[in-house]
This record gives sequence, C-alpha cells and structure tokens, in this order.
Amino acid sequence: MKLIVDTDAGIDDAIALLMLLAQPDLQLLAISSVAGNVSLLQATQNIKTILDITNAPATPIYQGCARPLLRYAALDAMDIHGDDGLGGAGRTDSPRPVEAEPASLALLRLARQYTGRLTLLTLGPLTNIAVAIRLDPTFLTHFDRIVMMAGAVDVRGNTSAAAEFNIVVDPEAAHIVFDACHRTGVMVQLISWEATLAHPLTPETWAEIIEGDSPVARMAQTMTVFLNERRAEYNEPHILWPDPLAAAIVCRPEIILSQEARSIKVEIGHTLTRGQTLVDYRRRPDKPPNTQIIREVDGQQFCDLLKMAVHNFDGF
Ligand code: BDR
Ligand code: CA
Repeated sequence: MKLIVDTDAGIDDAIALLMLLAQPDLQLLAISSVAGNVSLLQATQNIKTILDITNAPATPIYQGCARPLLRYAALDAMDIHGDDGLGGAGRTDSPRPVEAEPASLALLRLARQYTGRLTLLTLGPLTNIAVAIRLDPTFLTHFDRIVMMAGAVDVRGNTSAAAEFNIVVDPEAAHIVFDACHRTGVMVQLISWEATLAHPLTPETWAEIIEGDSPVARMAQTMTVFLNERRAEYNEPHILWPDPLAAAIVCRPEIILSQEARSIKVEIGHTLTRGQTLVDYRRRPDKPPNTQIIREVDGQQFCDLLKMAVHNFDGF
C-alpha cells in the first residue's frame, strides 16, 4: 500500500507514525507537517525525530501551512503534548532534509501521479488538504482511500464542548474538505473523538506495552510520563490514542467492526458550536453521505498493532 500522512506530530501522532513505519507492506511516499499540536517547525522536527529513531529509509518530508486559513495565531495543544510536542522526548539534531516543495503542492502532485493507488491519512488540522482542494477541486478523488482522525460526531468535543481539536483549529479548512467530499462523491473514513473514547487503554495495559530498553520504548516511556501528568490534571483515567486508532485502520481495514455512512458538515459560525462536525441522521436522498463514521474496531488487534509500533524496532 502506498500512503501519504499529513500530521501535526504530537505524542499520539508519533505512536501512529511508529505503527505505520512498522508495517513491512506499507510504502510511505511522503509525510507532510501542519501546525496544530505544535508549531509547523516543531511538527516538522518531530517527524524527523520519529524517522531517525526508527532508522527509517529516506522519506520525503514536506512542510505545510503554519497557520489556519483565516486565523493568524494558531491554537496549539502544547498543554497536552509538551513544549516540544513529544512530552520532552523530542530531538533537534536530525540530518534529514525538508523538501522545498510546499506540502499542498506535493500532495496534489503525488495524488495525480498515483491516482487510484494511494491512501491519505490525516492526523492534524485539515489546512494543507483544504489548500490542495482549492488548487484542484478533484484532489480527493485521486485517492483510493482517505482516513482522517477528526471530529466529534456525537457532540462530545475535547477542545470545546462541541468540537474536536483537529477541526476547531481550522474549521474553515474542515468545511472545505467535507464540502469537497459532498461535491465529488468521495467518502472519508473517520476516526472521531467518540471512537477514541470507545477504545480506551488502561494505564496498566499501556505500561506493559511500552516495557523495554530500546530507543523507541524509552521514547514511549518518556512521552507516557508526561501524558500521565496531564491525565491527572484533566481527570482522565484512561490512555486515549486517537491518531494510532486512525493508523490502525489504515494498516488493517479488517479490524473495523462497525461503521455507519452519514453526511457531515462543519459549523464555521463564531458561536459556541464553532468547529462542530454536524452529522445528519436523516436518510434523505438529497443529502448523500460523505463519511464512514467508524464506531468500533477489534480492541485486541489494536493492542497488537500498538505493540508492533513500540517493539518492531527493538533490534535497532
Ligand atoms: C487530535 O488532536 C490532537 O491533539 C491529537 O494529536 C489528535 O490528532 C485529537 O483530538
Ligand atoms: Ca494529531
């Protein structure tokens, strides 16, 4: 499988990338960065860190948008992911280059080049994707599969009461993406915040998974110490892995146990519900679905993939 990942490279993005890099049958054509959990530069740096720590072969890294489409100052999530986005496990000494081509242009070029043979996985705000759609309204139609971690489909927001982080950072971009799906008949597979809440790990299970002394296991342990402090602050009893869940259904689509096709629109008004992913539960022929909302995956296989993410690189 050929894959492009667009990411804001925080802690859970890092675990997702490790999982993807651990798959022998997966060809990572490009990784693009976007501002979200951390600044664009930090996100780019973190992508390099993950590639370095896994000894990954040269993988093109493209920088994307440093700001949302409209707002000048981007909202970040450094309170959850740390100043370096990796809970203190970040590095700054990577020799890996960053491509000169801007992410949205590169994504569009690759989508056209590999039309019908390429999967897109988005783990951050949808700014780069929206820009690519504005450059070519058929952009999304070139992918044979699109998986996104985004949205709160039952109004259980994590960043506001109504909205999930990846959407509320850039609601206009998300609006462009879901609207383009409607216009072009493209369906995305969505791991929402509710899907994340439905697949919690106990801290004990996660602690077992990350046991070990390899560089990757030690990185996971450092990130977990930071995450555990944040969980205590936010009264969150579980370890929640939104982006790894999205990566898991990319690696193994067969782990999806239930999903439902719905039409989603994004609220872009400046109200309490800004960034809400509004799901239309009516079955009207004039409102065809644009989203497969993933509800349940096989928890055991998800854990197996998490183990692979942490331990595939033990020998390095
Ligand atoms: C999403 O927001 C980010 O903080 C995480 O990396 C994930 O992509 C969860 O709402
Ligand atoms: Ca993310």
